[in-house]
Amino acid sequence: MDLDLEKYILEHIDAEEDVLRELDRFTHLNVLRARMLSGHLQGTLLKMLCRMINPQAVLEIGTFTGYSAISMVRGLSSQAHIHTIEVNDELESVIRRFFHKAGVSNQITLHIGDALDVIDKLTMNFDLVFMDGDKRQYPAYYNAVFPRLNQGGYILADNILWGGKVSQPNMPDDEYTKGIMDFNDMVKADARVEKVILPIRDGLTLIRKK
Ligand SMILES: C[S@@+](CC[C@H](N)C(=O)[O-])C[C@H]1O[C@@H](n2cnc3c(N)ncnc32)[C@H](O)[C@@H]1O
Repeated sequence: MDLDLEKYILEHIDAEEDVLRELDRFTHLNVLRARMLSGHLQGTLLKMLCRMINPQAVLEIGTFTGYSAISMVRGLSSQAHIHTIEVNDELESVIRRFFHKAGVSNQITLHIGDALDVIDKLTMNFDLVFMDGDKRQYPAYYNAVFPRLNQGGYILADNILWGGKVSQPNMPDDEYTKGIMDFNDMVKADARVEKVILPIRDGLTLIRKK
């Protein structure tokens, strides 16, 4: 997005809370591939979507440093709970420190491990799934979470435009673009769901189980 427009938007939405600003800064100074962090605009959207959907059980695939999880919890009722999964155990101490700082440790359970293994072991169903893990595995995540999504529940899938690569005429030769494109085709063809793509940031698909 045009930088001036992005600045204008950020100046005209709710201000970023201090702990999220600190987490964003910490991540950019200390963690590799910091641009993966959702950031203020998408974080605010996730919070608003949580307010609108009012899910009781939320699953996040791909915690990274915890920005999106903290953003989502801000839009949840106090009884609701998030299970978030991160495969990179080097991030665990940062995630736990910022969950504690944000005062959300009691509302978020962090699982360190591969998403597909963890999902297999979780026993509950979910009202909302935020899919933001390994792009090559999006089709597998979809298949794994779908039976565990309550009727009327939502999947939010991030990065589904993949920097614009999805609409390039030549077939992609990398597994990441292919994973996203297969996922997008799979969702499009799935009559069990309603879907819309928001061109925010790197693209966010909103999927509702009928
Ligand atoms: C785009 S980042 C997530 C950003 C985060 N949701 C946020 O908004 O700040 C993707 C994360 O998924 C994690 N990841 C990749 N493969 C995974 C897997 N198989 N299981 C769980 N997490 C995985 C990566 O280590 C990375 O931290």
